[in-house]
Amino acid sequence: MKILAIETSCDETAVTLLDIRGELEKPDIKVLGNTLLSQVALHTQYGGVYPNLAKREHEKNLPPLLEQTLREAGENLEKPDLDYIAVTNGPGLEPALWVGINFAEELGKKWGKPVIPVNHMEGHIYSVLYDMLNTECLTLPALSLLVSGGHTELVHVKDFCNYEILGQTRDDAVGEAFDKVARMLGLPYPGGPEISRLAENSRKRVTEDEIKLPRPMIHSKDLDFSFSGLKTAVLYKLKLENRSDSEFKEDMARAFEDAAVEVLIHKTSRALRELGNRAKTLIVAGGVSANHYLRQELNQLVNKFPGITLRMPTGLLTTDNAIMIAIATFIKINKHPEILKKAGPISASGNLSLISLARR
Ligand code: KG4
Ligand code: ZN
Repeated sequence: MKILAIETSCDETAVTLLDIRGELEKPDIKVLGNTLLSQVALHTQYGGVYPNLAKREHEKNLPPLLEQTLREAGENLEKPDLDYIAVTNGPGLEPALWVGINFAEELGKKWGKPVIPVNHMEGHIYSVLYDMLNTECLTLPALSLLVSGGHTELVHVKDFCNYEILGQTRDDAVGEAFDKVARMLGLPYPGGPEISRLAENSRKRVTEDEIKLPRPMIHSKDLDFSFSGLKTAVLYKLKLENRSDSEFKEDMARAFEDAAVEVLIHKTSRALRELGNRAKTLIVAGGVSANHYLRQELNQLVNKFPGITLRMPTGLLTTDNAIMIAIATFIKINKHPEILKKAGPISASGNLSLISLARR
């Protein structure tokens, strides 16, 4: 099936036209056209994403991105050959989500095609199906660690479209903590890649962490997380030491990354132990899954669980994109064809949960 997907949940405007078919566990995916415009440079001055600015940019960017995507795919701009239009309806920034939804619904009317709302986090989960070598099947059930700027969740993926949230952050998301700590260190937004770069320099220079930071909730018996205390601990250390030399910044970035990753690994390990043979795969996705140190530690973790295969998205599919939204749509249509009969307006839902997938 040919799916045109639109993603505007945060600060990336993305449009994709995919041809996707075959088994859900290992679909055959052809990207016919794919465009993405990041607003990162604009939001950098605010140290984070500014919702009304994001909305304005999405409005400006969507029409040219659609045109570029269709041209890339060799499609007729007035009446392209496609089956479905998909759009992210949450979670995310509501003003930004509405831009994508309104745009998708207008196209749906113009071309007489069904418009399907998709959960952004479901997109992240199935981003791992875009495997360029197309060698491996995705074996479910799985445990999924979703780590992004807005989410930190451990999800039991019992089957396609069947989820249970096992744990989540009680305050900041891990990506948000990376961004806030980066800001404290005077690093640009988004902070994740910057912190990671500095932390690597520290690891090359010293073998041990020079600065000790707490590991919030690491010993709690549940699978929840908390990152706001860790961020505050960084702030106190910065005030106490009152240093701004580059070695100190590198050591602080490393201390933060070590603490955040250790908690993520510890809770993921606990979840895998608790699930036992109810998880065959560990899916790690979302922007923070691009982090090298986290990837390295995850590889070591799965070595301790011989029955578990680790799946992470490739390169550009870690951060927000429309390819993952199209893949999630393919899964959703296959598992729940009845959604195609559900006409009616789609609404944006900033806090949309993985559990309320049928919501429009
Ligand atoms: O999934 P995503 O693109 O957007 C949301 O849905 O939130 O994730 C963005 C988040 C940002 O907080 C960014 O700092 C973080 O992912 N991130 C990273 C890295 N690359 C992006 N965090 C740690 N290390 C990275 N290499
Ligand atoms: Zn995301």
